[in-house]
Parts: sequence; C-alpha cells; structure tokens
Amino acid sequence: MRRLDQLLASLGYCSRREARAWIAAGRVTVAGRVADDFGAKTEPAHVLVDGEPLDHPAGLLLLLHKPVGLVCSHHRGEGPSVYGLLPERWRRRNPPVTSIGRLDKDTSGLLLLTDQSELVHRLTSPKHKVAKVYRATLDADLPAGLAEVFTSGTLLLRAEDTPCAPAQLRVLGPREAELTLTEGRYHQARRMFANQGCEVLTLHRAQFGHLQLGDLAAGQWRELPPDTFPP
Ligand code: URA
Repeated sequence: MRRLDQLLASLGYCSRREARAWIAAGRVTVAGRVADDFGAKTEPAHVLVDGEPLDHPAGLLLLLHKPVGLVCSHHRGEGPSVYGLLPERWRRRNPPVTSIGRLDKDTSGLLLLTDQSELVHRLTSPKHKVAKVYRATLDADLPAGLAEVFTSGTLLLRAEDTPCAPAQLRVLGPREAELTLTEGRYHQARRMFANQGCEVLTLHRAQFGHLQLGDLAAGQWRELPPDTFPP
C-alpha cells in the first residue's frame, strides 16, 4: 500500500504536486469512488486514472531487441540511448527502468529492461552464472584450438588478475562463431577474441538465460510475465 500521490509519481504519471492537482480535479478514483485524500494509503489495483487502470503497478520487465548505435546509459552526454525507445511515462518511473547488464553501443540483440532492482542484481551476479549467447563475426580466421582456450578457464584478459570463467565456443564458419558467457565483464566478448588475435566486426546477443530474441525486430520490445525469473 502506498500514498496515492507517491504511487502516481513513482509510476511516471506526473510529479507528486501534479498528482495532488489531478486528485483535486477528480481524475482519480479508488475502489470506484472519486479520491479526495492524496495521502491515503492505497492498493494500486483499485486505482483508476481518467477511468483507466494503472500502468504496470507491479513492475515492468521488457525484452528489447537493442539496435546498434544506442548506449545502455541514463547519462545524456553518452548519446542516444535504449531508454529513448520507451514510452515517456516508463522513462519517468521511479525506481527507474534500467537494463539488466549492458550491451556496447556497437552490439545488437537481446537486452532485458526492468524497474526491479532485485532482478538486476540477481541476474547480473556472477554467482548465478546466467548464460548469455553471442554471435560474432571476425576480421580474421578463427585460430585452431580457440574453443579449448575459451573453455579452459585460464584466459587472462589485459589488466585483469582473474581468468575468464570457462566459455563455450561454437564455430559457425571460418570467421563466425557463437560464444556463450556466464560473466559480464567490460567488453568481454570483444576482448576475449582480441586476446586471441581476432577483432570482432559484429556482435549480437541472441539469448539471455532461457530467453531468445526470436524474430523481434530491432528497436522493438515485448513484455515478459512477472514470473519469468522466479526467485
Ligand atoms: N561482450 C562485449 O564485448 N560486448 C557486449 O556488448 C557484450 C559482451
């Protein structure tokens, strides 16, 4: 149960001050009655704004096909971001909608977005070893024995003091491969290939845990049910 003005503000409808004005103007009902107390503790399922139920009061979980060229950052100075793809109201939610891990500006593919910080922590924690599957194209032929190097658990990236966890490599062609990582180090896939003499030309994430991108077009998202990742 939350204060009515706080509830509307946290779901991105308006500021708390505006929420009080909306309530005074009779735009909000609670359990079928026009609300008159902006401080009343309220059950979100009973609230209507302009006759409509609240927008995802229990939280958002989205699967986005991130296009190349957008950053996963809330800082405006870093350029156009994935958050710009979302409806204005979702961008104003608090807790904010944020990505579960990040993809580089030049990486496309499956990105999860949520306003549930517990889920962000759980799914990005190395302890949980969530598998992420990437397709990479490379500027040179893959060296022989690369799969063994990646699965060995001994690959040490520059300026790091712990080796990468074992990663699976499936060769798809002379310059194309699928890499499955259970960690999320900075630019990890690009740095692993670079460490072995190949520059990544394109990188695309096709899978996150049990979720696949399928035929979702770049820039589109679909909502996931709240029980997608049970505790
Ligand atoms: N590894 C990378 O190098 N970049 C990404 O965006 C994800 C994994």
